[in-house]
Amino acid sequence: MTIYFAPMEGITDGILRQAHNRIFGGVDVYCLPFHKLTESLSLLTREKRDIAPEENEGLNVLPQALTRDPGQLSAWLYYVSECGYSRADFNLGCPSPTVTKRGRGSGLLRDPDTLRSFLDRLFADTLPVSLSVKTRIGYESADEWPELLDLLAGYPFAHVTIHVRTTREQYTGGIHPEAFDLAVQRGIPHPVYNGDLRTPEDVRELLTRCPAAEAVMIGRGLLADPALARRIRGGAEASKEELKTWYMTLYEGWRDRFHETLALGRIKKLMEWPAGDEIRRKRLLRRAKDIESCIDAMIGD
Ligand SMILES: Cc1cc2nc3c(=O)[nH]c(=O)nc-3n(C[C@H](O)[C@H](O)[C@H](O)COP(=O)(O)O)c2cc1C
Repeated sequence: MTIYFAPMEGITDGILRQAHNRIFGGVDVYCLPFHKLTESLSLLTREKRDIAPEENEGLNVLPQALTRDPGQLSAWLYYVSECGYSRADFNLGCPSPTVTKRGRGSGLLRDPDTLRSFLDRLFADTLPVSLSVKTRIGYESADEWPELLDLLAGYPFAHVTIHVRTTREQYTGGIHPEAFDLAVQRGIPHPVYNGDLRTPEDVRELLTRCPAAEAVMIGRGLLADPALARRIRGGAEASKEELKTWYMTLYEGWRDRFHETLALGRIKKLMEWPAGDEIRRKRLLRRAKDIESCIDAMIGD
């Protein structure tokens, strides 16, 4: 099974990707958070740093872009190729209203005709790298999925990652795993399942229901348990020592790159995922004034 670490803007930067790979492993591909493309084609400093080969040394990464303009995407694919990568991903999944109202991300799903002409124009030329897509299963309703699926199946995507929610459903509430099964039945090439995989049992359940599933993408599950990919492969749970190293490495990396206060804020935000509903840990975390107290709050007894 191929395991992708989901892109999470503001969280899964190069520091986190490198630390995760070194300490826990188990992930095949680390997805880069999206580059928001603009008319001028200039990227933000943080976007350029994120895709730089030195930031991703030793990792298998998948850069991603968000745009509603096929010309911009095509130009960006040449840039990705110049950076030394051979594949990239197109974001059709972002549900943020500021993105969708401009017809970007999953906003493009609202209008299949516009999406079709976007893809027709994009694939009219040979692309310099192979292209995959990350999509949701509809904008308003899962009833849109069969038509969207047929549309996407008409283009030579290297793989199709399916977050089994609609745009309206954002990131919480019920999921529609049957939408993934439908993609498998219709023979979409290399479907990747995404949505709410939190434990090795969740992955086993997916494989029982859908034995043809060959790849999964995991986001929040890996933030809550950074050893999850390793455990899915039958490996060990995260030890206290590993977790300490994980938090310390992230804190020091972010402190050296940004600032102490920002690094502490970022680590506290990340720790909210493993803290889950544990009120005592959350309270200790809120009160923590330094990284040592944060780590104590998380892995102390
Ligand atoms: C804070 C945050 C940032 C995200 N940023 C991106 C992104 O840049 N590109 C993308 O395709 N998806 C992004 N996502 C969606 C995740 O990649 C993933 O599809 C989603 O979290 C569902 O998977 P999960 O249930 O395993 O977390 C983001 C999600 C979160 C919570």
